Amino acid sequence: MATNITFHPGSVSQTERQQLLSQKGVTIWFTGLSASGKSTIACALEQHLLHLHKFTYRLDGDNVRFGLNKDLGFDEKSRNENIRRIGEVSKLFTDASCVTLTAFISPYRADRAVARDLHEKAGLPFIEVYVDAPLDVVEQRDPKGLYKKARAGELKEFTGISAPYEAPENPEIHIRTDQCDVTQAVATCTEYLTARGFI
Ligand code: ADX
Repeated sequence: MATNITFHPGSVSQTERQQLLSQKGVTIWFTGLSASGKSTIACALEQHLLHLHKFTYRLDGDNVRFGLNKDLGFDEKSRNENIRRIGEVSKLFTDASCVTLTAFISPYRADRAVARDLHEKAGLPFIEVYVDAPLDVVEQRDPKGLYKKARAGELKEFTGISAPYEAPENPEIHIRTDQCDVTQAVATCTEYLTARGFI
């Protein structure tokens, strides 16, 4: 824990930055089981927003764990720390006026609440998107063969099988990926963002 540090306020206010860049930052936090479609939807939304010339960036569990969070595993404490760091990073991106897309299982309600709180205390919007598909559906998809390994007991603490997933109770957006395709999911997100003046 660092001591003797002082927070240095910025030279430009959030409002001024938003005006100069003609863009408001917002964190769009995708949560859901592995293979529920988080990354697929976040990728498609990222492409769509970039084609609208929005400053957009995606933070994705499968990628961030190769770099920033490569020291973390999948036990509860590691997942807490994974999400704590992503909450901090997404807050920085969003403070920089970015449309920040995060795609992490983020299975614990309390961790997501901490990320939300961090944003809201800084006056930054946080939109939780529950990417929802029943366990039997994601298990059938199993693009990486991980559910199979988890069922066979070769992979411990696997979300949905041997580790918990706490579904959001009040997400801003709820997408059932067993009932809609990627185009519809992206449209649901963009309609929400447009209606609230984020894009
Ligand atoms: S989180 O739970 O800490 O939010 P994160 O989204 O970063 O997870 O990483 C999830 C990805 O890691 C999965 O999509 C899967 O590819 C891989 N993975 C490897 N082991 C596990 C596990 N035990 N539980 C869940 N996902 C795992």
